[in-house]
Amino acid sequence: MHILVTGGAGFIGSHTLIELYKAGHTAVVVDNLSNSNPVALQRVEEIINSGNHAIPFYKVDIRDREGLERVFAEHRFDACIHFAGLKAVGESVEKPWEYYENNIGGTLVLVDVMRKHGCKNIIFSSSATVYGDPAEIPITENCPKGQCTNPYGWTKSMLEQVLMDIQKADPEWNVVLLRYFNPVGAHPSGRIGEDPSGIPNNLMPYITQVAVGKREELGVFGDDYDTPDGTGVRDYIHVCDLASAHVASLQCFTHAFTHSRIHTFIYNVGTGHGYSVLDMVKAFIKVNGVDVPYSIKPRRAGDIATCYCNPSKAKAELGWEAKNGIEEMVRDSWNWQKNNPNGYNA
Ligand code: NAD
Ligand code: WQD
Repeated sequence: MHILVTGGAGFIGSHTLIELYKAGHTAVVVDNLSNSNPVALQRVEEIINSGNHAIPFYKVDIRDREGLERVFAEHRFDACIHFAGLKAVGESVEKPWEYYENNIGGTLVLVDVMRKHGCKNIIFSSSATVYGDPAEIPITENCPKGQCTNPYGWTKSMLEQVLMDIQKADPEWNVVLLRYFNPVGAHPSGRIGEDPSGIPNNLMPYITQVAVGKREELGVFGDDYDTPDGTGVRDYIHVCDLASAHVASLQCFTHAFTHSRIHTFIYNVGTGHGYSVLDMVKAFIKVNGVDVPYSIKPRRAGDIATCYCNPSKAKAELGWEAKNGIEEMVRDSWNWQKNNPNGYNA
C-alpha cells in the first residue's frame, strides 16, 4: 500500500516507516518538524537501505489545507497513519488552546482533505490515557473511557469520537484507533530513537539522560501507591513492536477483513505486562551495567497507580503481539542514548 504518514519524522512515526518498508509498503511523510528533526528521516532511509527507496518528505503542517492539497495532488494514497500531534501532558495544561487547535483542528483539516481525495482509511494514534483512571485492570477495549486529567488526553478522546462519527455517517470510511500504552526503546541499530526537547516528561528518556550524565538523578514520583513496590505500574512497549502494530492494522483496510463488520476497529497496543518505575530502573542498571541514581519524590499530579492492558484482541484479530520484553526495551533505549548523547543534534 502507499501510505501517508503524518508526523513521520517523530519518535513512533520514524520507527513505523521502517516496519512499513520492511513489509513492502511505501510511504510519504508530512511533518511540520515542530517536535522532530529531519535527520531522523535520513537515518530511516539509511536503515531501510534506500538507494531506490527515498521517502518523499513534505514539511507541511496538517492545519495547512493548501499544503495538504499539494501532497494529495502528487500521490494517490491507500491509507493514512496519523501520528501528527502535540503530546506533552504538562504543556497541554498550560496551553490548552494550542493543543485543541493543533490536534483537533489539524485532524479535521486532514480528514476533510482525505475524503475529498477518496482516501477514507485512517489509523489514528490514540492513547491509554482515554481510559482515565481505568475501571478495570488489565484494561480491555470494552473498558469504558474515563475522565482525562489534561487537555492532551481530551484531544485523543474527542478525536476518537470525531472519527467514529465520521465513519458512522459515511460507511466508506475505515477507522482504526490504536490506544498505545507506554512506548520505550529504540531501533536496535541505535540510529533512531526518542529525542525529547528540554527536560523529559517521560520515565525512560529521563532514565537514559541520567545514565548518560546529562541529569543528576531520577526523581521517582511516589512510592506509596497501592502497587507491589509502591511505585507506579505501566505497560511499557518496545517502539518497534508498536510500529509493527500499525503494519498489522493495515489489514483492516482490505475487503476480506472488513467484510460484514463494522468499520471502526479499536485495539489496545501494549504487552499486557505491568512494570513498576523501580522495575524499569533496576532492569536498566542490570542489563546495561550503568548506574542510575534516583530518589523518591512526591507523587506527580494526575498520575494513576496502575495501567496495563489485555492485548488479546489485537492478537486474535490482527495476529499481532509484542515480541520484545523489558530487557530489549532497556537495552535499546540505552543503545540509542549512549550513541547519540545529544539526540539528533550531534
Ligand atoms: P513525536 O512528537 O515524536 O511525533 C509527532 C510528530 O508530529 C512530530 O514529528 C511533530 O513535529 C509532528 N507534528 C505535530 N503537530 C503537527 C502538525 N500540526 N502538522 C504536522 N506535523 C505535526 O511524538 P510520538 O511519541 O512519535 O507520538 C506520535 C503520536 O502518538 C502522537 O499523536 C502522540 O500523541 C501519540 N501517542 C504517543 C505516546 C507516547 O508516549 N509517545 C503515547 C500514546 C499516543
Ligand atoms: C511512567 C511512570 C510516573 C517520570 C504518559 C502520558 C500518556 C502517554 C504516555 C501519550 C509513572 C513515573 C515518570 C519521572 C517517574 N502519552 N515517572 N519519574 O504518565 O504513564 O503516560 O506518557 O499519549 O498519555 O500521560 O508515562 O513515562 O510519564 O510515567 O517516577 O521522571 O514513571 O510517575 O508512574 P505516563 P511516564
